[in-house]
Amino acid sequence: MSWHATALTLFPEMFPGPLGLSLAGRALREERWRLDTRQIRDFAADKHRTVDDTPCGGGAGMVLRPDVVDAACAAALAEGAGRPLVYLTPRGRLLDQALVRELAAGPGVILVCGRYEGLDQRVIEARGMREVSAGDFVLSGGEPAALLLLDACVRLLPGVMGGADSAAEESFAEVDAPLLEYPHYTRPVEWQGRAVPEVLLSGHHAAVARWRREQAEAATRERRPDLWARHVSRRAG
Ligand code: ADE
Repeated sequence: MSWHATALTLFPEMFPGPLGLSLAGRALREERWRLDTRQIRDFAADKHRTVDDTPCGGGAGMVLRPDVVDAACAAALAEGAGRPLVYLTPRGRLLDQALVRELAAGPGVILVCGRYEGLDQRVIEARGMREVSAGDFVLSGGEPAALLLLDACVRLLPGVMGGADSAAEESFAEVDAPLLEYPHYTRPVEWQGRAVPEVLLSGHHAAVARWRREQAEAATRERRPDLWARHVSRRAG
C-alpha cells in the first residue's frame, strides 16, 4: 500500500494542483503515493447541502458544522484507517521538518481544509485532530497549506527524490540542530560582473566543505537567530 492522502475540502478542484506536476506528479503517476479528495458538501444532510452556520455568540463569518465534517472524516477513515487527521489552521502547531518526517513515515494523512471562520471546536476534539499551521499568516482556506504539507511529505517517500543525498543535506536536515543551507553557484563563473566564490573552483574539497559550513552558520546567525540559539545550545550540550 502506498502512502495515502485524502483531502476533505469544499474545493476539491484545488487538488492535485501543483502536485500533479514535477516530482510529486511523477510519483503520483508511479503510484508511490495516492491522493483522494472528498467534497465536504456531499456529507450535508439537508436538501440545500448546508455545511456551515453562524458562530454561536455572534461575530463575523461562518463556522463549518461538526456533524457534516464528522461524516466526511468517517468516510475518509473507512478507506484507510490508522491515518492521522490533520486540520490545517493558523491556530495549529507550526509545520516543521520533524512533523513532516513523522507524517511521511506513517501510512498517510487525512487533511481537513477549513474555509470561513473554521471548524466547530467539538469535531476537532471528538476526532482527535492534529491542528497544524503553515506559518504565522492567514490564508483564505486550508487548501494551500494542505498542498504545502503534502509536497514536503511526498519528496521524502522512498523512490521520489532523484539523488538520495540532496534531501539529507538540505536546510533542517540536521533535525536536532538545523542550520540554513549554504548558497549555491553554477556556471558561468562570471555573470554580470559577479564571480563565483573562488574556493568553489579550487578543487580543494576540505576547503569547500569548511567554506560551506561557515556560510551556513553565518546565514543562520543573521537570518534565524531562533535556529542559531538552538544550534549553539545543542552543540554545547
Ligand atoms: N488556514 C488559514 N490560514 C492557515 C495557515 N496559516 N496555516 C494552515 N491553515 C490555514
